[in-house]
Amino acid sequence: MKTYQQLLLQNRAWVQQKLQEDKDFFNKLANVQKPDFLWIGCSDSRVPANEITGTAPGEVFVHRNIANMVVHSDMNMLSVLDYSVNVLEVNNVIVCGHYGCGGVRAAMGHQQIGLIDNWIRHIKDVYRMHQDELEKIEDMKQREDRFIELNVIEQVYDLGKTSIIQNAWQKRGRPYIHGWVYDIRNGLIKDLNVSMHDDSEMPDVYRFERRK
Ligand code: CO
Repeated sequence: MKTYQQLLLQNRAWVQQKLQEDKDFFNKLANVQKPDFLWIGCSDSRVPANEITGTAPGEVFVHRNIANMVVHSDMNMLSVLDYSVNVLEVNNVIVCGHYGCGGVRAAMGHQQIGLIDNWIRHIKDVYRMHQDELEKIEDMKQREDRFIELNVIEQVYDLGKTSIIQNAWQKRGRPYIHGWVYDIRNGLIKDLNVSMHDDSEMPDVYRFERRK
């Protein structure tokens, strides 16, 4: 049997299991979507948002890309952010990176990979911003781990710099934005404690004037 056919069989088995637990499982989900969380994570196959947070279908709106980046010219990310914040009105946006991230590792190196080099460059910019701190760390594994954390923190700030988030903060004091790192070595998520729900920590140049 082809590997993809296996997925379809597993889907049938999953439906059976869900219906056994709750015969209205799909009826309930079909009617409304009201998640409280937007998850911005890495595309890495080892970091599935729902599974590692113990959440069910309907609970988390998800955007994933290589190295969980918030690139402010990325129409895909901006559309997901705008829809989840202004239409679904999520109260929490989580940027979740992960140790062992290949995208971040590539950004520390010099190898040309292909088109992706242009995406990786956004991560290199984060390295340059924190070069002094990072190059004081002599152990390369520890340096990589810290780079992964700093990259998440910068993406949280980048969310706060968007007009989408700043207008929502002004209007309803939400969403909270959070920075987390998942450890693929033990399955645990670490909260980097950079959560914010206003622009008080924002460098002034990024602060938009309040809308009338
Ligand atoms: Co990754």
